[in-house]
Amino acid sequence: DETLEIRASLLNWYDLNQRDLPWRRISANCDGDGDIRAYAVWVSEVMLQQTRVQTVIGYFNRWMEKWPTLNHLAQATLEGAKMIVEEGGGFPNSVCALRKVRGIGHYTAGAIASIVFKEAVPVVDGNVVRVIARLKAISANPKDVVTVKNFWKLAGQLVDPCRPGDFNQALMELGATLCTPSSPSCSSCPLSAQCHALSVSRQDSSVTVTDY
Ligand code: ADE
Repeated sequence: DETLEIRASLLNWYDLNQRDLPWRRISANCDGDGDIRAYAVWVSEVMLQQTRVQTVIGYFNRWMEKWPTLNHLAQATLEGAKMIVEEGGGFPNSVCALRKVRGIGHYTAGAIASIVFKEAVPVVDGNVVRVIARLKAISANPKDVVTVKNFWKLAGQLVDPCRPGDFNQALMELGATLCTPSSPSCSSCPLSAQCHALSVSRQDSSVTVTDY
C-alpha cells in the first residue's frame, strides 16, 4: 500500500543521496561503542535543532575534540550528562528512558532512540511537518497543539520499523533539500508519486504549515 511505497522510495533515495556527515560516520559504525554513538547523535541532534547542517559540522567536530565522550562532558558540568554517568547504567536506550534525562525532550529522545537503538519511533521537526503536510495534503494551524500531536501520530504510522533511524533522517533531509518551503523540487522528489498535494497542484499552498 501507500505507506510501504513511501518507505521504500524514501529509503532508496536516502541510500543514494544522503549527505556524508561526521555524526553519521560514527552512528553507522556498528562495531563502535554504543554509548559513543548515542552521545554523538545526542550532540548533533541538539545542535541541528538550533541551526542548519552546514553550520553544525564545524561546531560538532570542535565539540567532539573538546569532549570526546560523555564522561568528559559530565566533568564539564552538563547536567544531563552528569545524570547519565552518575546512574552508571550506560546510555539510556529507549524513548521512555531517554525522556527521564534532564534536557532531553520528545524530539531528541526520538532521534537518539531511532538512530542509535533502532526503536521504531518518529521524529518530528519543522521539515517533517512540511513533508507530511504535503504528502497527505493537510493544511492546519501549526500553532495548535492538536496539529502538532497529529503530525507525531502520522509520522509514527509512517516510520519504517526496520530502519527507523534512516527513515527519520531521510524525511528531515528531504524537507531540507527538496521539499523546501517555497518552490519545492517535485520533479526530483522520490515521493512525488505518493504526494497528495502535488496530485492536486497544491504543493505551494499546503505550506501553511511551514512556520511550525
Ligand atoms: N535535521 C535534524 N537532524 C537531522 C538528521 N539526523 N539528518 C538530517 N537532517 C536533520
